[in-house]
Amino acid sequence: MKGIILAGGAGSRLYPLTLVASKQLQPVYDKPMVYYPLTTLIEGGIREFCLISTPHDLPRFRQLLGDGSRFGLTIDYRLQEKPAGIAQAFLIAESFIGKDNVTLILGDNIFYGGEAFGKAFNEFKSGATIFGYHVNDPQRYGVVEFDAQGQALSIEEKPQRPKSNYAVPGLYIYDNQVLEIAAKQRPSARGELEITDVNVAYLRRGQLRVALLARGFAWLDAGTSSSLHEASAYVQTIEKRTGVKIGCPEEAAFRNGFLALAQLEALTAQMPNCEYRDYLEREVVEEARRLDAAGS
Ligand code: TTP
Repeated sequence: MKGIILAGGAGSRLYPLTLVASKQLQPVYDKPMVYYPLTTLIEGGIREFCLISTPHDLPRFRQLLGDGSRFGLTIDYRLQEKPAGIAQAFLIAESFIGKDNVTLILGDNIFYGGEAFGKAFNEFKSGATIFGYHVNDPQRYGVVEFDAQGQALSIEEKPQRPKSNYAVPGLYIYDNQVLEIAAKQRPSARGELEITDVNVAYLRRGQLRVALLARGFAWLDAGTSSSLHEASAYVQTIEKRTGVKIGCPEEAAFRNGFLALAQLEALTAQMPNCEYRDYLEREVVEEARRLDAAGS
């Protein structure tokens, strides 16, 4: 399974924050926003990435994440000239996807809690898997309607009268048919290639699975000043309480076996003295050393 992080868009709702740096580079408490979706996919076992962004911002993502090798990953970069819709990502990343299955995550979606995605990646065989999450304000999102058996009946993009409270979060899993489906798509009334239309195409083929995310699971989107602030406050609350970081790609890569202990040690040694480095040394490196010593 390959992973696409879509990190373009206009970010107009965050103006003037986004005049100089894109939305997905803004801080969410103690890290750049894109660290969170990157970590979510690493935790799910994804190792080959393509990051898509605007001509203005792509160089900054490259500066931030490099070729991915410091996290034990590969990261390709592709340009989206204009924000012509989320589903355009598949056309832009066609050569990266090749013949594989692919998961797409939006660069401003923050998830926390549980193993739902890793399980979905592991169990995925064909068709499409998307998720349903109970929200207070479904009209802002793609909304899924279910029948009594829990089968998806319809998906509507930003409906005025939502048929349920289940919104579709910005993490989608597709088989290789997505390339053919995206290639046939036409822009919607608002001029975008809609991800909801891709999901509807799978639904019509009888190949769409909607997995409901459990109640304790957190899905935050950080697209407005207020939701960005709430996301920061949420991360700070959990990190302070538990002493465990959310959205730490080095830690996730190490725990998934993408980085050896010696590589993580070398990586942390290069970081300036800061809380992030202290965390990795204290909570991850030292713990691993203790476990190694206890085991040998
Ligand atoms: P949105 O939040 O819907 O759009 P936006 O980021 O352009 O923000 P605004 O509405 O404030 O102008 O986009 C959701 C995510 O998808 C976000 O991470 C940006 C990304 N995106 C792209 O990268 N390219 C696109 O063409 C679109 C529509 C979105």
